Amino acid sequence: MKHLTSIRELDLNSALSLLDNAQQLSQVNEREVKKLPALRGKTVVNLFFENSTRTRVSFEVAAKRLSADVINVTADSSSVSKGESLKDTAQTLEAIGADAIVIRHPLSGAPKLLAEQGWISASVINAGDGSHEHPTQALLDALTIRQGFGLASDLRGVKVLIVGDIRHSRVARSNILLLNLLGAEVSLAGPQSLIPEGIEQMGAKVMDSFEGALAQKPDVVMMLRVQKERMQGEFFSSATEYSRAWSLEGKRLEMVSEKALIMHPGPMNRGFEISSQAADDPRSQVLKQVANGVAVRMAVLYRCLSGETQ
Ligand code: CP
Repeated sequence: MKHLTSIRELDLNSALSLLDNAQQLSQVNEREVKKLPALRGKTVVNLFFENSTRTRVSFEVAAKRLSADVINVTADSSSVSKGESLKDTAQTLEAIGADAIVIRHPLSGAPKLLAEQGWISASVINAGDGSHEHPTQALLDALTIRQGFGLASDLRGVKVLIVGDIRHSRVARSNILLLNLLGAEVSLAGPQSLIPEGIEQMGAKVMDSFEGALAQKPDVVMMLRVQKERMQGEFFSSATEYSRAWSLEGKRLEMVSEKALIMHPGPMNRGFEISSQAADDPRSQVLKQVANGVAVRMAVLYRCLSGETQ
């Protein structure tokens, strides 16, 4: 595997192998000395055209734990702000020595373009592109679900409910693809305006109401942030109206099974799509997800940069 721009590039074996590798690496992350020499001499550039806390920092920590050199570039502090193109930026970074470019970009397809145009020979890893995909987020979510239920292989029989702004969510798309690959059952709930037409064809059942979806007793309730920055026009009349129907709070939190996992990719808008009570509930996996992000990104960087074929 040289690049990871979409979950569609993985088959069941390669997905399971990445998760197994991430599981082993998560144990390294528990040790006092959390460093491995695996990527010594390699240079990883984090090229972020959108803001990030979790993804950028965990890619940096992951690369450093594998002994790679890491450079962080943001659009507003680089010559991108002077009009430099993606091609020229990437070629410049490669000329400086980048072996891998981890890219977050507002345009869906930007990482794939970079990987496939032949502009550079470095590995390209998608750290989130527009509303399209966020493959390492889906992998860390799958690892969290495996750990949460003590599973060692795929996710057959696990019922996952994803709730909220599905339309603008790259997290939802990558999760639907990966959860299907791993054999989980995926359902979606959210305001009709935020459920894209035809999403069922990706392998998900659309539910009419949050309460109706919770009555099916999902094993995982994954809440999504409302992505106001990607919205052109009105998708709901007010934050209050949205929260009244779609926030995980109060009676709806009570409907979540005792053994279920509550997940959110972050950043959370407490009091909007999720209450503080739900975010801080013992069933909440939010910080576990963040911690697993380091192990998953170590596994992905290693797989892309080590020259291993799977
Ligand atoms: N989940 C996620 O992508 O978070 P950041 O935007 O902080 O990277």
